[in-house]
Amino acid sequence: MASKAAVNVTVTGAAGQIGYALLFRIASGQLLGADTPVRLRLLEIPQAVKAAEGTAMELDDCAFPLLDGIDITDDPKKAFDGVNVALLVGARPRTKGMERGDLLEANGGIFKPQGEAINAGAADDVRILVVGNPANTNALIAQSNAPDVPAERFTAMTRLDHNRAMSQLAQKLGVALTDIKKLTIWGNHSATQYPDLFHAEVGGRNAAEAVGDQDWLENTFIPTVAKRGAAIIEARGASSAASAANAAIDHVHDWVNGTAEGDWTSMGIPSDGSYGVPEGLISSFPVVCKDGKYEIVQGLEIDEFSRKKIDASVAELAEERDAVKGLGLI
Ligand code: NAD
Ligand code: LMR
Repeated sequence: MASKAAVNVTVTGAAGQIGYALLFRIASGQLLGADTPVRLRLLEIPQAVKAAEGTAMELDDCAFPLLDGIDITDDPKKAFDGVNVALLVGARPRTKGMERGDLLEANGGIFKPQGEAINAGAADDVRILVVGNPANTNALIAQSNAPDVPAERFTAMTRLDHNRAMSQLAQKLGVALTDIKKLTIWGNHSATQYPDLFHAEVGGRNAAEAVGDQDWLENTFIPTVAKRGAAIIEARGASSAASAANAAIDHVHDWVNGTAEGDWTSMGIPSDGSYGVPEGLISSFPVVCKDGKYEIVQGLEIDEFSRKKIDASVAELAEERDAVKGLGLI
């Protein structure tokens, strides 16, 4: 029997596909550890509350020893009251004829009130992961509307991109995933992201050197990772769900429990100006997690090729920030 106090974990978009792949793993202890009970709060729009209730019935039917209870609501204030870990998954998908500005505006209608509700009611130790797209800018909207919560608690998910890059590299070199360390995703969770092999290591050797094929790196590896989301949608007829849920688990698990010694991971976090990324933009960086906190890995040499790639993705983030600023969302 677990003896720790239950941690309040809120999942938005709980009745969606990622929600369905995520909730059972949280309840089974994979998010926070096998000794930490969780109380789930499911936030949905009114039309999807019934479906969320169905998922909750299934969660009950699993008889997870760590699951301390489930609350279901369509009210962000109730969902985020006392929240310790918030997984913001529900978002407005792009539909036919929608421009990027329309998408940002529609998502502003979701992430602004959610940021305000987090500001009003979250626990002091709250940690927030935004999964719903455009994840980095949605995180910026929520963070900007929660002035009393330390900005660094708002993060955006690039761990799926990180995991995708790990697998592509392992397959190319025929090595085990455990041989790969220090891979980085820089920038936005979008097609402009930059998966960086120049600082990664394979069995202790520089990964770009181990690949030894700049053409593959530039014209196969980077586009395969950056456009993987679209390729999954094309193949499955729906966006990635189980792999996205898996990445959300990895992100929060490492943030809370720490990254492995001698390795780092990728997280979208508010920039402190490191590596020339304008302060405040929520951009992906190499980070080490320890004692429940993350820190940007400092001192990496960025060559001209990497500089251009990072700058292009960061420019896109700045454009998105300016667009949501223009809409009065931040
Ligand atoms: P989905 O459409 O299956 O589910 C989304 C759910 O969100 C729906 O049940 C919907 O009712 C709910 N929702 C909408 N507005 C809400 C609100 N205001 N409050 C609470 N719930 C709300 O979508 P999905 O496949 O689960 O994907 C969710 C999001 O995650 C999408 O934006 C998708 O693009 C994104 N995504 C991000 C990554 C990443 O790596 N960052 C990867 C995959 C998917
Ligand atoms: C992914 O990377 O799989 C998703 O962000 C794709 C999408 O647009 O939902």
